[in-house]
Amino acid sequence: MTQQNDGTMALEVCQQRLFALDQHQLRSPYDLYRQWRERGPVVYLEDQDIYVVTRHDMIKLVNRRPVLFSSQNPLGPSSALAAEAIAEVLQDFPEEAAARAHVVLNRGSVLFTADPPEHTRHRRLLNAALRRSAIDSIKSEINLIARNAVAGIKRNADIDFNEALAVPVPIHCLATLLGVSRDHAADFHRWAEAINASIGSKMAREKIKRIIQDQMEFWSFFEAEIMSREQSPRQDLLSAIATAESDVDAPLTLSEKVGFCSQLIGAGADTTTKLIGFATLAMAQDESLQNKLRNSPEAIRPFAEEILRLEPPVQGMFRVTTADAELGDIKIPQGSMVWLLYGSANRDHDVFSYPDEVNFERVNARDHLSFGSGPHVCIGANLAREVAHSVLTQLLAQTQQVVLTESQDLSVLHSYVMHGLKSLTVKLT
Ligand code: HEM
Repeated sequence: MTQQNDGTMALEVCQQRLFALDQHQLRSPYDLYRQWRERGPVVYLEDQDIYVVTRHDMIKLVNRRPVLFSSQNPLGPSSALAAEAIAEVLQDFPEEAAARAHVVLNRGSVLFTADPPEHTRHRRLLNAALRRSAIDSIKSEINLIARNAVAGIKRNADIDFNEALAVPVPIHCLATLLGVSRDHAADFHRWAEAINASIGSKMAREKIKRIIQDQMEFWSFFEAEIMSREQSPRQDLLSAIATAESDVDAPLTLSEKVGFCSQLIGAGADTTTKLIGFATLAMAQDESLQNKLRNSPEAIRPFAEEILRLEPPVQGMFRVTTADAELGDIKIPQGSMVWLLYGSANRDHDVFSYPDEVNFERVNARDHLSFGSGPHVCIGANLAREVAHSVLTQLLAQTQQVVLTESQDLSVLHSYVMHGLKSLTVKLT
């Protein structure tokens, strides 16, 4: 950071274009993040007009001020591009369908994209549905799903890890928790892809059409499921959402309820898939690490926490300033886009010693920001941790070795927000 004549620090301007990041940088953006972090707690990306918050303490500070730093556009510039492209494609739809699609694509304006006081109301109504005890109550089912999935994988053959395990297990667990028949698991996957399709990447017209149709189908399905639970609640998460109430809040509207489901499917399944993928890659690449985990299952939780810290499935979230703001010495005008770079905070030397290394003994291992922080902190973190733990535990318990097959490119999705392996081929013995 450069000191100015008045003693304050000047804003560092960087020329990096996010959409131009190549595969190598997307696979491992951490060196670039380190360079930004070294230049200051906030750097400015001139091309996209984005203020990037790079340091752990500064990101937590921003997350404590959700009114000044609004979540109206948490997915950043790509969603603005997607919104334009979607609006154009919607002109091809009949009027009524286009109007409905607008509601659907806004995900009921709940949680993720809401600010206080609405966001506070949403969390008060929905927190209980995913609290630790709710997840504990389906722990044995999660374990069974993971056990059966690992048992069903062919041994001594090249397997597509995402297809065999990392994609179906989180979806199946989420469907179980929601109380939806597992026959819909394939639909869930398609819907989750449709909900996430626009994040941090560009889309072709045909693809947009498909995602609009998939999302509308998702919406109709969940609307019917919620309405049936409103009439006759059962013991499942959908019923908890359908009947959520508090002493002080107005009940959720139908579109808020379905919007929340859309966020659970969009934010829940795919992110856990990515975590399991990176954890398995790390084990398959390092035999001694794998043996250590095999011999000490109690290290699996700290290991998964370190993978979360080092390879966050969500690299960062965006905020928009609702008034002129200041971060340290840096002035940020009203209406600016601010990128909270969780993937950078997780390797901040001031918080984590030897931040690039896996360390099972790290005392502050859970201080990473891969689940965010403050009022928008991930509502599904308990579930994600439990599912990842079950999958890794079963994978190690039921095999002698998880081996990475040779000659695969290990490339990641083309997105600077969502971080995950496109594919992973392994052999189980
Ligand atoms: C490894 C898995 C996961 C990761 C890395 C992850 C990451 C995140 C992050 C970073 C946020 C904060 C967003 C912000 O700062 O604006 C968030 C919020 C959220 N997550 Fe997760 N998540 C995961 C799993 C899940 C699961 C399993 C669910 C649901 C079943 C879920 C549902 C949500 C929802 C609904 C929000 C919005 C909360 C709010 O705005 O109040 N996530 N997640």
